[in-house]
Amino acid sequence: MGLKQQPWMWVFVVVLIIIVSLESRWSEGCLEQERFALLQLKPFFNSLHYLNNWVEGDLNSDCCQWDWRVECNDTTGKVISLDLSDTRGWNSEMGEWYLNASLFSPFQQLQWLDLGYNGIAGCVENEGLLPLPLILV
Ligand SMILES: *[C@@H]1O[C@H](CO)[C@@H](O)[C@H](O)[C@H]1NC(C)=O
Ligand SMILES: *[C@@H]1O[C@H](CO)[C@@H](O)[C@H](O)[C@H]1NC(C)=O
Repeated sequence: MGLKQQPWMWVFVVVLIIIVSLESRWSEGCLEQERFALLQLKPFFNSLHYLNNWVEGDLNSDCCQWDWRVECNDTTGKVISLDLSDTRGWNSEMGEWYLNASLFSPFQQLQWLDLGYNGIAGCVENEGLLPLPLILV
């Protein structure tokens, strides 16, 4: 009994494929604009190559799964916690760094942001404020 004799089997297979592909779309936790924002952040915080796993790809599009540093709300898929501490390999010779806070504005539900041990002295003026609570040192 092959597929040739059972044309309805094809319908079944096609429906199954549609269900499976919809399912993987639904469980795709991370929002497009937040994924983009994370990729914008990456070059500033990847001196030590800790964020090398932050890459976009067909099998890697869920940024909530990239790293323990990125934590999302299971329901909304939005990033709720970002731990970027000690990712720049900062030492006193590198000098202080003024961050552009608007890099973090796409994260609407961000509740926790750890930027410690990166030599950040503050934010660039007129580019918004970082969300709170926040760890800088
Ligand atoms: C996730 O988001 C939902 C809807 O906004 C909210 O009710 C819930 O408390 C959130 N969960 C966490 C862990 O932040
Ligand atoms: C900060 O980032 C925003 C958005 O990426 C950009 O438009 C702005 O020019 C930046 N400001 C500085 C001072 O680099």
